[in-house]
Amino acid sequence: MQADVVVDLQYGDCGKGKVTHHLCRTQNYTHVVRYNGGCNAGHTIYHNGKKFITHHIPAGVFFGVKSVIGPGCVINPDQFFKEIKELNDGGINTDGLIFIAKNTHIITEKHKKQDSEDTTIGTTRSGNGPAYRDKYSRDGIRASAIPALKDYMIDMYEELHSGKRTNILFEGAQGFGLDIDWGDYPYVTSSHCTSGAALLNGVPPQAIKKVWGVAKMYETYVGAKKFEPDNEIFSLIRNLGQEYGATTGRPRQCNWMNWDLVDKAININGVTDLVFNKVDILDQVGRYKLYHKGELIKFENCEQMKDWINEAVATRFVNVYFSGDKDRI
Ligand code: IMP
Ligand code: MG
Repeated sequence: MQADVVVDLQYGDCGKGKVTHHLCRTQNYTHVVRYNGGCNAGHTIYHNGKKFITHHIPAGVFFGVKSVIGPGCVINPDQFFKEIKELNDGGINTDGLIFIAKNTHIITEKHKKQDSEDTTIGTTRSGNGPAYRDKYSRDGIRASAIPALKDYMIDMYEELHSGKRTNILFEGAQGFGLDIDWGDYPYVTSSHCTSGAALLNGVPPQAIKKVWGVAKMYETYVGAKKFEPDNEIFSLIRNLGQEYGATTGRPRQCNWMNWDLVDKAININGVTDLVFNKVDILDQVGRYKLYHKGELIKFENCEQMKDWINEAVATRFVNVYFSGDKDRI
């Protein structure tokens, strides 16, 4: 058995979908598994020139690879069926490709209602937090208890430990800055967003080969805390980068990259391959800056900023890729 993981090193929305899509196209995975989060996540994927936004369903489905919603996730059945329909309407065959782990927990209407009353965190109001709360207070409902989901059930142990060769891609949701333990609590999501969380979905630690860490050349955050400095440049970045939530449509607050966060996320996730997306947006803005140890560092041009980043990770033997919206990595 072997596995790769895709994780986000900032606050979500860094382009994990793009990296996952690229990996599915170029590697021979037997499974693509979502390992945390629920329909709070929005993965934007361009496939054969069409735009798709998925919330629950892993990107493997675009390539005919078995796509599993793992036990670290929470799932809203209505949203799940809606997404299958949207994929089918967009010409993507999902027959026999989509599975839900039996022990995945369910997001109910009650959870959604409770979450819709949130005013302090700025949640996606998708019922995510209340569903995890009930799971951990042992008052939740597992997917195996829902008759409508019967045809999609999978036992992760039997599936992954059957003796057959398995090569799994774990697709993370949200990001390091939103992690329940490592993020800026309480402005976090209710699940674990690090590569370690992939291990809770049925694979042993030594199965993990590559950890793809995904960041953007600037930062965005959606939620209740103030994040964006008062400066018009960030409205420009927002508009050029189309920084509006894939799930809620909310404008994302923008800021320069916080290298200290990315650096910490690289170390904690054990990143082997590092992707910086949206290079082209900074190029259009023509300003190149990042925070390091609380100071704002300015660069003359993009090459200088890339050199600085390459230098900063040089001793860690990670492969670094820079990518614009129109590039493939
Ligand atoms: P929740 O996950 O809906 O409870 O929201 C908690 C925090 O995480 C809020 O600040 C959300 O905006 C943020 N969040 C949750 N999912 C995502 C995501 O996929 N991308 C970006 N932010 C997210
Ligand atoms: Mg997203």
